[in-house]
Amino acid sequence: MPRDAVPQPVRLSDYRPPDWLVDTVHLDVRLHPTATRILARLAMRPNPEGREGSPIVLDGDELSLKSIALDGTPLAGSAYVTTAGTLTVLAPPQRALTLEIETVVDPSANTKLMGLYRSSGAYCTQCEAEGFRRITYFPDRPDVLAVYTTRIEAEREEAPVLLANGNPVESGAVEGTSRHYAIWHDPWPKPSYLFALVGGRLDRISDHFVTATGKKVELGIYVEPGKTERAGYAMDALKRSMRWDEEVFGCEYDLDVFNIVAVADFNMGAMENKGLNIFNDKYVLASPETATDADYANIEGIIAHEYFHNWTGNRITCRDWFQLCLKEGLTVFRDQEFSSDQRSRPVKRISDVRLLKGHQFPEDAGPLAHPVRPSTYREINNFYTATVYEKGAEVVRMLKTLLGEEGFRAGMDLYFDRHDGDAATVEDFLACFADANGVDLSRFALWYAQSGTPHLAVSGHWDAQARTYRLDVVQTLPPTPGQPEKQSMVIPLALGLVGPDGNDLPMRLDDGTNAERGVLLVTQPRQSFVFRDVAERPVASLNRGFSAPVKLTSDLTTQDLVFLARHDADPFNRFDAAQTIALAHLVEATAARRTGRDLPSPAALVEALGATLSDATLDPAFIAQALSLPSESDVAREIADDVDPDAIHDARQALRRALSAALTPALEGAYDRHAPTGAYAPDAASAGRRALRNACLDLLAAGGTAPGLARALAHFRDADNMTDRFLALSVLAHNAPDAREEALAAFYERFRDDPLVVDKWLALQAQIAEPGTLERVRGLTGHPAFSWGNPNRVRSLVGSFAGANQTQFNRADGAGHDFVADAVLELDGRNPQVAARLLAAFKSWRSLEPGRRASAERALRRVAAKPGLSPDVGDIVSRSLEPA
Ligand code: PHE
Ligand code: ZN
Repeated sequence: MPRDAVPQPVRLSDYRPPDWLVDTVHLDVRLHPTATRILARLAMRPNPEGREGSPIVLDGDELSLKSIALDGTPLAGSAYVTTAGTLTVLAPPQRALTLEIETVVDPSANTKLMGLYRSSGAYCTQCEAEGFRRITYFPDRPDVLAVYTTRIEAEREEAPVLLANGNPVESGAVEGTSRHYAIWHDPWPKPSYLFALVGGRLDRISDHFVTATGKKVELGIYVEPGKTERAGYAMDALKRSMRWDEEVFGCEYDLDVFNIVAVADFNMGAMENKGLNIFNDKYVLASPETATDADYANIEGIIAHEYFHNWTGNRITCRDWFQLCLKEGLTVFRDQEFSSDQRSRPVKRISDVRLLKGHQFPEDAGPLAHPVRPSTYREINNFYTATVYEKGAEVVRMLKTLLGEEGFRAGMDLYFDRHDGDAATVEDFLACFADANGVDLSRFALWYAQSGTPHLAVSGHWDAQARTYRLDVVQTLPPTPGQPEKQSMVIPLALGLVGPDGNDLPMRLDDGTNAERGVLLVTQPRQSFVFRDVAERPVASLNRGFSAPVKLTSDLTTQDLVFLARHDADPFNRFDAAQTIALAHLVEATAARRTGRDLPSPAALVEALGATLSDATLDPAFIAQALSLPSESDVAREIADDVDPDAIHDARQALRRALSAALTPALEGAYDRHAPTGAYAPDAASAGRRALRNACLDLLAAGGTAPGLARALAHFRDADNMTDRFLALSVLAHNAPDAREEALAAFYERFRDDPLVVDKWLALQAQIAEPGTLERVRGLTGHPAFSWGNPNRVRSLVGSFAGANQTQFNRADGAGHDFVADAVLELDGRNPQVAARLLAAFKSWRSLEPGRRASAERALRRVAAKPGLSPDVGDIVSRSLEPA
């Protein structure tokens, strides 16, 4: 039976400990394509902290119950009741007991990809957040921790590989049959969402890792047959992650084996199941011919992320799903730090902040805004968001900024020490940092509770006579859904005062203290900071390294920003200064286009970028970031209201052409200087050279000039790796309508058997900013390479159209909105999670100009009116439409 279509909201304040605990789980899973039988033996006992005399309430979803027995005796029909979502044992004896439950599920019919399902014939599971209940009846909540033993049985032909969590115990033939079995035991108590099993015909690459204390861990990565050569980079990233977590956080691995399985059908990126990570194959498989530098970087980061969950998520898990950021924000922070250490720290920071501003800021500014730790939800699947992950990581980063390197590590050490084995809360986490450092973090905790992006307005006043410099800071936090009033936040504002020679001036506050580690603590609605002994007019470099996830405006002039873009000692702010100039230009140019005024001059930006391009001391990857302008949605976010995506697109294209024309010789020079010197290697330095060369090509061709396009064609023809080939293909697709079809066809012919490359081909076409794109995308939904059943295909084609093609998704005639609404309805019956994510592309609909806003609202209302919506889509659509 389907789940309740209008689920009641779950509230954090209603949390109660479970009434019954589960100590051990024995599963016997007999795999079968359409009727897999699961025998579960649960050793349970009343929770001393629960309500006395309680019934046993287990969760279940779309299960077929075959039998149930208590301590070996079948339960009478009157002793239990089942509803769509539960099985209740009505009056169990109040003592330790054993429940044996037999269920049957159909993995081949499981299109939601939650619970036990099949991907390219292999059996696999996905249990986070509430998928275990689709395998057996269970108290499916993260604060019920049990020790699991799993026996899997299958046809040897069909599933020669049988994997589950923990360590392998035993395997062999099932006497007298064509079947075989394997038994796995996981000694670490874990919540059900971390359960996993896999059965299938898979190839393996093997390696091993010796931990800091000398234990040998067998490592395996399982992939579709024939794809093992593409798993080498993931294995390398895994070993580096294991070493790094020992060195930086003192976290050692705790089982004899660590396995990763790559599957083609997966709702998310990857999953940290204990000892058996399951990955979307997009984040495992890479070869120079099929993966871009960005793909390699993602693989490295996600392999690390899932591995790091072993301590932050698995050994210490979440008490309830409101605490999701406890594992996700913290683990994102940890994977960001890992990638920063493996690559360029400033460039990693720049791309992380771009992601935050591009995805989290719009979420925080629209109807789907929610706190890093929400206090209520109707469907937990909809809270795997940029706010929980990315803003959650920023909050951990701020803790580190506030406490310093050592204070932060002391807090982490205490957290691991105090809470190993626990299902913990955000309060538990913060208490470790407070206790380890003797500080009060109660106001800092507002970052978890208040949604919305704080705004800091900063102005600087230099007094030549008094030799002082005063910074006035005004803090505001706009109202967000359910939170009309806000309190002031504690904001660590890192800054520098840059003197006329480009060097930082010493910073002494008028009370004689130095701003500790260059960080001011903003805690009040209005606050002033006075620096003394400032002999020359400084330029303030504010929010260095993006020390706080805020929107900052200041009274810096364009000339100040050009100066910072050239001289700031903080690389992030050097980047940000030029972006700020570009953003201001684009906002002004967009307004000019809509009113027929003259476009502003791009001279300041030309000056800043020209200087960056010719600075030989800069990392090429950094220059590439500098050359890439704020996106159309960045501009839309800045405008915030009455947004016309066509005007933004035109303004941005005009700016790109102007930069191209003004900087041609410098761009050509950098392009030529960064030609490849040897075979492709995915390391950061080589990737940086390619990134710069490709950024130059992208701008050169933006002019639409014959030499620019000729260069792009040659780049496409000569490419010996996917990074270069795909960049050239995008440049042609976006800028050369005449060369486009031929290049797209050639690319498809070459890679048609490679679904992950076909995804790039689909995504690119969906992003072309032309009226013909909608028809093209519609047509591609009927292409043999496309399937509504595979989340990667859907996200590449429909997700890219809705999320990365501002002008066509938001077509003035409303056809883009209608198309995406239709796609959501089409998908909802099959895979509600993917459908709900697609629908979230409407999150900024209220900021559109009236015509487009009306068409978005019509599309949303049409979705809302459809009977039988999933809870996932129902939740997103109703929050999206709630009056602002
Ligand atoms: N927990 C996964 C992660 O590492 C994400 C995920 C959530 C995967 C839900 C599947 C289902 O972030
Ligand atoms: Zn995670």
